[in-house]
Amino acid sequence: MSYQVRRYFYAISLIILVPCVLAGCSGSPTPLLPASPAARQIYNLILGVFAVIAVAFVFVEGLLIFSVVRFRGKPGEPPPSQHEGNRRFETIWTAVIALVLLAIFIISLGVLFSVSNQPANAGGNTAGQSIHVRVVGHQWWWEFIYPDYQFTTAGELHAPVNAVVYLDIESADVIHSYWVPQLGRKMDAIPGKTNHTWFLANATATYQGECSEYCGLEHAYMRFTVVVEPLEDFQAWAQNQQRIAQPAAGTAVTGEQAFFSSSCPACHTISGTKAQAKIGPNLTHLAARKIIAGGVLTSAPQDLARWLANPQAVKPGALMPNLHLTPQKITDLVNYLSTLK
Ligand code: CUA
Repeated sequence: MSYQVRRYFYAISLIILVPCVLAGCSGSPTPLLPASPAARQIYNLILGVFAVIAVAFVFVEGLLIFSVVRFRGKPGEPPPSQHEGNRRFETIWTAVIALVLLAIFIISLGVLFSVSNQPANAGGNTAGQSIHVRVVGHQWWWEFIYPDYQFTTAGELHAPVNAVVYLDIESADVIHSYWVPQLGRKMDAIPGKTNHTWFLANATATYQGECSEYCGLEHAYMRFTVVVEPLEDFQAWAQNQQRIAQPAAGTAVTGEQAFFSSSCPACHTISGTKAQAKIGPNLTHLAARKIIAGGVLTSAPQDLARWLANPQAVKPGALMPNLHLTPQKITDLVNYLSTLK
């Protein structure tokens, strides 16, 4: 390789490898830091398959490099004698590869059935040993409905640590795929069908989730977080989510009026008010969530203002239209929305 070619080769290798390595330690979704029994089984399978592939790679490339060096042509040598295959060798290496692939297939199938197997006693209970959440994929955000607690939220799924969380996976429009790599397998969200999956997280932490099925323009911004917390914290959170919105006071009053005199209530719900539409995310506790709009922005006032000013500039293709609000209206609305905690 010339110096120039080698430089490009190293640069490209770095570009490919560095994100792969960093993915394991930053806040991005990764199956390499499993935090549930099911995710651990998947991780072990990844390691096992990787080990088999690594051995095969080293063996084949080793033979190749050995042959190239050992049998290279020397100046003045006659052309090498030609061989036309060896049936015994060909049969052996085909059979060995077929057996290795068959073994990987059987082991993968075992892991697939094992991680899909829901623990008994499906359903939820309010004591916190298990909870039940309906997960609905929308273009491009996730809705979380807690039937046992009677509230709906978006973008942020909360669950108690060491509890079985039963999930019904649904879609409001096109096919999406629910995936929290640290907690278990993917599950498709299919319109008109309810799929079931579950997880049990062993450690309190915030896990990153994403949509893993291409579902349109903003597929990449269909992220969510899973907040796994001690039971008391989860119950406090759930209690707060159950509260209906109180009438606005102080600086939020003008914003509340602006909200209800604009087209906002045509798409959104704020519990305890006349806004009861279910097209966009439920806003009852919007300011208590960290992310909005599928993770493209936070719920901080300056981000809310950017979003209200022109959603299409922040997330082109998003179903929230540009309402051409005046700067004053935006400030008022942000003052109101920031009180929804
Ligand atoms: Cu939803 Cu990709």
